[in-house]
Amino acid sequence: MPSFAPLKNDTFLRALMRQPTDYTPVWLMRQAGRYLPEYRATRARAGSFLALAKNPEMATEVTLQPLDRYPLDAAILFSDILTIPDAMGLGLSFAEGEGPRFAHPLRDEKAVMALQQPDLSSLQYVFDAVTQIRVALQGRVPLIGFSGSPWTLACYMVEGGGSDDFRTVKAMLYNRPDLMHRILSINAASVAAYLNAQVDAGAQALMIFDTWGGALADGVYQRFSLDYMKEVIRLTKREHNGQRIPLIVFTKGGGLWLDQIADSGADAVGLDWTVNLAAARAKVGDRVALQGNLDPVVLFAGADQIRQEVRGVLESFGRPGPGSGHVFNLGHGISQFTPPEAVTELVQAVHAISRELRK
Ligand code: CP3
Repeated sequence: MPSFAPLKNDTFLRALMRQPTDYTPVWLMRQAGRYLPEYRATRARAGSFLALAKNPEMATEVTLQPLDRYPLDAAILFSDILTIPDAMGLGLSFAEGEGPRFAHPLRDEKAVMALQQPDLSSLQYVFDAVTQIRVALQGRVPLIGFSGSPWTLACYMVEGGGSDDFRTVKAMLYNRPDLMHRILSINAASVAAYLNAQVDAGAQALMIFDTWGGALADGVYQRFSLDYMKEVIRLTKREHNGQRIPLIVFTKGGGLWLDQIADSGADAVGLDWTVNLAAARAKVGDRVALQGNLDPVVLFAGADQIRQEVRGVLESFGRPGPGSGHVFNLGHGISQFTPPEAVTELVQAVHAISRELRK
């Protein structure tokens, strides 16, 4: 294992740990991606998204691309949440413009009973990418490792791809809760082992993406998504070589369950743009930091409007005080159609306005 350079900018980690910062740190979900021409060029060289994600040198290159353009306060591993089901043997592919597909989805009892945790050695390319990115970052900013939530992974594993209504996976949940609990237990153990291996490889913070938790009914969300994220959090290393490894949990559409998510054991909770930050802050108190929550479509407005909306988010959170922390982000991933100049405005505005609000 190489030794890593000391961290020069720890603003992001401090905000997650609810320690004072000079300004509000910012990074963007999907910050490395198709809205950047340099990303599209590297992907073309790789041949496909999966070939890119499975090549640690190229994954390192695209992870650093947004940092070379913008003074972001964190890097995120370039990979995907679907690496785990791929390593379980479900046969992942991405059809151009169509999103993910699994050749062997979990459609019946036999398939569910055959499901096993993946051999972590088949995910070695991910851990190699983490280490190479840490080396390439030279301590500029911290590196975030991530995974999908057990439930969100199950959505793709049972549906065999994306879905508008998740009727196959939700029908299994209602008809055969025993099978769903089996999938979710295996996923939770797999996700925890995967996150721990990313920490060992050099990840300095972790995030769990629960993109489809918000598709569940109240009561069902708690038992089929949140409980399994709590299990992951319980099993995840939160300290490495004397450094705290903060963990963020993000349920898209989970605003109504914020109080329960804040008790999950995570250090920070990600919020989508439907949530009022001031109300969220009052609700969570000093239990967790908050991350979010600008509507990604604001980036299609003019520079003045972007600055105004950024100010709105920062003022809504208010001046960070003792026991609170705010990481600026979008409420969901950046759109592939975003003009790259809009991100320049956004990052500059977050840094300048948040410094001004601390005076
Ligand atoms: O944030 C980052 O910059 C890190 C990279 C990252 C990707 N996927 C790269 C990617 C992260 C954190 C993810 C997470 C992910 N993947 C989620 C959870 C977050 C979210 O957005 O809700 C989900 C649900 C997936 C599954 C997935 N991967 C889908 C549905 C798709 C296709 C949709 C699309 O945008 O085309 C992907 C492919 C994918 N993952 C791309 C990228 C940059 C686009 C692939 C391409 O280059 O064509």
